[in-house]
Amino acid sequence: MELAQRLVLLALLLAVSSPCKFIQSPMDFGPLNVVPPTTTKASSDFGRLSFGTPCAVLKPNSAEDISLLLARLSSSAAAAAFGGRVTVAARGAGHSIHGQAQAPDGIVVEMGSLPPSIEVRRGPLLSYADVGGGAMWSEVLEETLKLGLAPRSWTDYLHLTVGGTLSNAGIGGQAFKHGPQISNVLQLDVVTGKGELVTCSPAETPELFYAVLGGLGQFGIITRARIALQEAPHKVRWARAFYDDFRTFTGDQELLISMPEMVDYVEGFVVLSEHSLHGSSNAFPAHVGFIAELRKDRSRIYYCIEFAVHDYQRRETNVEQVMEKISRKMRYMGSHMYSVEVSYFDFLNRVTMEEATLRSRGLWEVPHPWLNFFVPKSGINEFKDLLWDYVSPEDFMGPVLIYPLLRDKWNTNTSAVFPETGVSDRVVYVVGILRSTNPNTCSLQCVRDLLRHNRELAEAAGEPRIGAKQYLGRHPSPGHWQDHFGSKWGRFASHKARFDPLSILGPGQGIFPRSADPTMSSV
Ligand SMILES: Cc1cc2nc3c(=O)[nH]c(=O)nc-3n(C[C@H](O)[C@H](O)[C@H](O)COP(=O)(O)OP(=O)(O)OC[C@H]3O[C@@H](n4cnc5c(N)ncnc54)[C@H](O)[C@@H]3O)c2cc1C
Ligand SMILES: *[C@@H]1O[C@H](CO)[C@@H](O)[C@H](O)[C@H]1NC(C)=O
Repeated sequence: MELAQRLVLLALLLAVSSPCKFIQSPMDFGPLNVVPPTTTKASSDFGRLSFGTPCAVLKPNSAEDISLLLARLSSSAAAAAFGGRVTVAARGAGHSIHGQAQAPDGIVVEMGSLPPSIEVRRGPLLSYADVGGGAMWSEVLEETLKLGLAPRSWTDYLHLTVGGTLSNAGIGGQAFKHGPQISNVLQLDVVTGKGELVTCSPAETPELFYAVLGGLGQFGIITRARIALQEAPHKVRWARAFYDDFRTFTGDQELLISMPEMVDYVEGFVVLSEHSLHGSSNAFPAHVGFIAELRKDRSRIYYCIEFAVHDYQRRETNVEQVMEKISRKMRYMGSHMYSVEVSYFDFLNRVTMEEATLRSRGLWEVPHPWLNFFVPKSGINEFKDLLWDYVSPEDFMGPVLIYPLLRDKWNTNTSAVFPETGVSDRVVYVVGILRSTNPNTCSLQCVRDLLRHNRELAEAAGEPRIGAKQYLGRHPSPGHWQDHFGSKWGRFASHKARFDPLSILGPGQGIFPRSADPTMSSV
């Protein structure tokens, strides 16, 4: 590192140390907390439910800057000077829901400040991209497509960072086939809580590699990831099929994921109202025919499977014939299957269109009391019945996603948590209850009530009844976190002791709180 850069960093550290050291409680977050007056980007997130103001924001120029910061904070001098209080959180795109990327009174590392670096290698056996931890998946897609390549496993939305989704799992409609994004990583560069910059993989320092994948930002900061790539298709045949019966819907989803040689993507959602079809209707106008069906009986609940087939435009495969072959095996309602052909980029980037629509209506930057679960197949019918106690079609805004994954595509060495009960279930469902609230009609008290209902649903869906595990959840206490990890807790805690012994990293998750930690304010 250049001397000048070091001096800048040192100056920053000095500036940082003073407020953290001398201000005991910069803001009084009373029981009915409000947004602190001086919010910065780093004190908030997509959820708009939790707000924690950091003392400072680090805008790193390199992985070495992050390493220097963490090494200093771990030194005995720093521990004495800061009273062991300063915490650090990496912030990717800040698309967390409950403040997971925040560091109240600590230091937020803005990963987007790292130089955007995406290097694509095409190999005869294996192609991959080396990407910075702060890169957005949309950027990775744009760069890899230039060489006709692309990552294999995606999230629905691409304005998320590589480091952010790999710290959780990264799931979507390709996960049944290729596993979650954490199953498609070959190597990582990680700065541990002690400031060590380590290159790790299944062969080198595998404990750190697997700990960090799904590790919720607790063990280190990912500064580079090597992502496996495949040939990108030219086009995608994207289909939606409608159901009025839940078991037929899930039966067909399980049929689709049993044919990975033909099917490339499978998701599904509850058609709560006409509204839930409009969300992405500019991208997918073809189901207009179904809207008439919906209007006939508004009291019914319908389900929609979304699936896709990649079109490589090779002479030996005719995508229309493949679609035909698949749809003959399915049991959707009457003629209610619609499909469109779109470019691969537009298919993967489809949620951006919904984002634009919601932004134009002032409904993007609103509180999002989201709830995501992994539900074992044995409990999915019971879960669906439970769901209607918490979601009513009349007032629910946002999608309710339901789609299957396959357990054997998950590497149990990673930190990601998957249901333990019903281990015999090879199929596990993702259920995403992605509610938006309209500030004009849902007050602070209304948001609080929704959060309470969410906790009740999570309670009811867990052990012993259904054995669902939350995904992207923010558990209310260390005890709840231990229950969440179940038999994986011991390993998770021992990794913490090894890679971040002072518990500097990831305070916003609330897994390893220190007695002196300030709390964030929440709705
Ligand atoms: C509209 C929308 C759609 C979504 N769709 C999906 C989906 O289809 N599938 C899915 O799996 N998820 C989905 N998500 C959830 C998303 O994957 C998580 O919220 C993820 O954390 C967001 O990434 P981020 O870059 O915004 O992370 P942040 O919110 O910035 O960070 C998340 C956590 O990771 C840590 N972290 C961030 N960067 C690093 C790093 N480089 N190294 C170590 N730790 C780090 C943070 O400290 C924090 O604890 C969606 C979210 C939104 C808002
Ligand atoms: C899990 O980790 C151990 C130890 O590093 C390794 O021997 C084993 O092959 C790993 N399993 C998988 C499925 O990667």
